[in-house]
Amino acid sequence: MLDLQPTTSDFLRDAIAGLSSSPRTLPCKYFYDERGAALFRQICEVPEYYITRAETEILATDGEEIAALLGPRCEIVGLGTGGGRKTRALLAQLAEPVAYMPVDVDKESLATSATQLSTAMPTLEVLPICADFLEEFTLPEPSRKGDRIVVYFPGSTVGNLEPEPACHFLERIAKMAGRGGALLIGVDLQKPPEIIERAYNDAAGVTAEFNLNLLVRANRELGADFEVANWAHRAVYNALEGRIEMHLISAARQTVRLGTEQFGFEEGENIITEYSYKHSRNGFIALARSAGFEFRRLWTDRQELFGLFYLIVPD
Ligand code: AVJ
Repeated sequence: MLDLQPTTSDFLRDAIAGLSSSPRTLPCKYFYDERGAALFRQICEVPEYYITRAETEILATDGEEIAALLGPRCEIVGLGTGGGRKTRALLAQLAEPVAYMPVDVDKESLATSATQLSTAMPTLEVLPICADFLEEFTLPEPSRKGDRIVVYFPGSTVGNLEPEPACHFLERIAKMAGRGGALLIGVDLQKPPEIIERAYNDAAGVTAEFNLNLLVRANRELGADFEVANWAHRAVYNALEGRIEMHLISAARQTVRLGTEQFGFEEGENIITEYSYKHSRNGFIALARSAGFEFRRLWTDRQELFGLFYLIVPD
């Protein structure tokens, strides 16, 4: 496994920078420690969180057509594919895929899913890369060269990026796929805000625990002293920006120690932990175009909650 996993010192640096900025933030990529990854898998099962089910439905309904469009002998790069269930569904329908390169920050789920996949598809070369896919990294060379590189980026994780970084990120993906390559990307679509807010404020409180786990992780890994009981989860839809925002709200006036720094919080003051942008069809197509892609196809679930876009890099 190629290991470029973010280190504790990256987390400390990012946490201090985030809490020193205005508004205060903690980056969402640190959600996914072992506990966080397990909580995220649980989020995917709560009735309010429609994203995973919608995307799975698309793969089941349109898988054949998707596979036909991608063509035979693909090298598939999977970004942030976590447990890898959707990727397995995709790979199973492809004609003679030559290699699969999953990229994920969570080393445990990466290793587990790589092993599962190798067992299920023994002829497929699996080359896992433990890295933050938002950072620069180079792809390993598979032993057999495929006909084209297809980057698969499911789960609407691109929604975590603000428009400008999203464009730069897509430009980097276009370069990675190269001429004749492609991007198959899952994007959560614009819809009535109530549906979105419900998805990020599930009744069972799994999303709340997922959000608060960031503080538990900071306490354990950075020796911070967040009093977790003094923080509350809130997710609000920002209509102006077209995004849901995850916040941690300070329930009291308090001070938190982090490394050599101290941070004072007023009652009601918040830390932003995640943005999740919801795109319109044309908005996302325009974004992809500005990054150098050509739009080929959009599949949605029956309720049109979620979109799977197929974009190619022209020859
Ligand atoms: C994995 C980034 C797509 O934004 O919906 C789920 C993460 N956060 N519930 C999302 C998440 C809160 C998720 N992504």
